[in-house]
Amino acid sequence: MSKSLEQKKIEQIENLPTLPEVANQLLKIINDPTTTAVDVANLISRDLSLTSKVLRLANSAFYGIPRTVTTVQNAVVILGLKVINTMVFSITVVKMFPGDGNHPLFSRKKFWTHSLACAVLSRQLALRMRKFTLFDPEECFCAGLIHDIGRIVLDQFFHENFLKAIKKSMDGKITLLQAEQDIFGFSHMDVGDWLTSRWELPQDIRIPIVFHHTPGKTEYAREITTLVHLADNLCYDTGYILPGIDTKPTLDTILVAQLGFTSEDLDAVKATAAEEIEKFHAAFEI
Ligand SMILES: [Fe+2]
Ligand SMILES: [Fe+2]
Repeated sequence: MSKSLEQKKIEQIENLPTLPEVANQLLKIINDPTTTAVDVANLISRDLSLTSKVLRLANSAFYGIPRTVTTVQNAVVILGLKVINTMVFSITVVKMFPGDGNHPLFSRKKFWTHSLACAVLSRQLALRMRKFTLFDPEECFCAGLIHDIGRIVLDQFFHENFLKAIKKSMDGKITLLQAEQDIFGFSHMDVGDWLTSRWELPQDIRIPIVFHHTPGKTEYAREITTLVHLADNLCYDTGYILPGIDTKPTLDTILVAQLGFTSEDLDAVKATAAEEIEKFHAAFEI
């Protein structure tokens, strides 16, 4: 890596966006047993646009609540703290990197659709896990949603070089991951690592971001990392990809087999993917 790029990298890291206060506070209090629905509702209610989006999502077909939820406090009571945390986190992250940049080589709308698909597939897979595991579907959703977040950071802060990487991968028929390494000397996984450490996200969400193409390289949180790795792969089977710019990632079949899914499980997850993703997408306004 050239010195100037290294220098630029460090400067840019200092400018990396920080998580807005509400999401930050929520992440901090979510595992505190003394936190109540009122605390969370008060926190969310400070932000009117967030409040309306939370209510919209809570009332979406994705969660299937039979009656209309009219207050955030009710949403917290009915859906639980973890689901609300996932919603706030998702809304916040997408808002930080809006989906309206539509360069012909990199569509943010398609980027977020791929990310949302990976989130929903990760959650669906987690709900089907038969083995006892210490991770939960909501963490899997968050990890899936931001697994490629490094790419949108590259698009935002290193736009020209990121486009060069995309062109290089298309022309040379190499993976975008490899092209990122060639152009930047680091990949979207490294950028995801810097960003999420700055955000102080829990390790169970951070590690899958850092190793989602190479789950064998982490001992810690290897199962959730492998699950996101599999969900990312399933996105390519179900059509939720970034067309033209990325090739299907190589699947670590040995680690994936250890998760214990049957082919029926995978078929069922794939069969319901479009419907589940559409339910969330409709309310999410990406
Ligand atoms: Fe990736
Ligand atoms: Fe991906």
